[in-house]
Amino acid sequence: MSYNLLKGKRGIIFGALDENSIAWKTAERVFEEGGSFVLTNAPVAMRMGAINTLAEKTNSQVIPADATSLEDLENLVEKATEILGGKLDFVLHSIGMSVNVRKGRHYTDLNYDWSQKGWDVSALSFHKTMQVLYKKGAMNEWGSVVALTYMAAQRVFPDYNDMADNKAYLESIARSFGYFFGKDHKVRVNTISQSPTPTTAGKGVKGFDGFIDYADKMSPLGNATAAECADYTITLFSDLTKKVTLQNLYHDGGFSNMGVSQFVMEKFMEE
Ligand SMILES: NC(=O)c1ccc[n+]([C@@H]2O[C@H](COP(=O)([O-])OP(=O)(O)OC[C@H]3O[C@@H](n4cnc5c(N)ncnc54)[C@H](O)[C@@H]3O)[C@@H](O)[C@H]2O)c1
Repeated sequence: MSYNLLKGKRGIIFGALDENSIAWKTAERVFEEGGSFVLTNAPVAMRMGAINTLAEKTNSQVIPADATSLEDLENLVEKATEILGGKLDFVLHSIGMSVNVRKGRHYTDLNYDWSQKGWDVSALSFHKTMQVLYKKGAMNEWGSVVALTYMAAQRVFPDYNDMADNKAYLESIARSFGYFFGKDHKVRVNTISQSPTPTTAGKGVKGFDGFIDYADKMSPLGNATAAECADYTITLFSDLTKKVTLQNLYHDGGFSNMGVSQFVMEKFMEE
């Protein structure tokens, strides 16, 4: 169902890799709600080519940008405002990658060059993106910036590895930058803390299948899907949430406030 919530709004969507990506689902929903946008991803991710299918479906253009490169981000923001014909109303940062996770390096044996790379891609890129937007005055008043995060920033999930630290940093940037963006430009900044979701990034985490099932059985409403995350993001881009800022918002079927569920207890009591 569509409500025209984003009619006339313009934005940038980072991170649509394939049709499972949270950013992909969000782009489809933003389009349905009447928003227009530029899609972007790292140049290496373009090689898969899937993003062009999404661009066609949503009447949008693709501008490659490595989110760790200020030069790429400056070019992206300039081109996006040119193509879309004005300042931006929404930005989705849906980017995450840990080299240590990818290469199976244990948290107690980190390769720090890889940690730095993962931190730059997963966390600092959010600051870089906002700094470019802020300095260029590229956001309209009452614009909305959203990044995706995971609860391993607050609680221990051993296999989430150094991504837990990256997410804690990302959430902190949302608050720190959100203060200045709010005060100076009336732009809101929030993170959505999403349930485990079967995407390329999600499935890269060791033991993901057990992990996603456990979260589902712990949550009174079950895990939130990527499509549901897209719906939630739409509300944050809309004018219905104008005074929500500096928040880390759990979108997880209730998981974050659970101690134990009956289902999990029963499973535990089985012989
Ligand atoms: N899948 C989950 O279980 C889950 C749960 C909570 C939060 N998240 C977060 O959601 C966000 C989106 O991930 P997803 O699950 O849709 O997976 P995904 O693999 O589809 O998306 C990750 C994206 O990051 C992009 N990326 C990597 N390096 C980049 C760079 N240098 N510059 C620009 N883009 C780059 C990838 O190309 C990809 O499109 C991430 O921040 C992830 O941590 C995912």
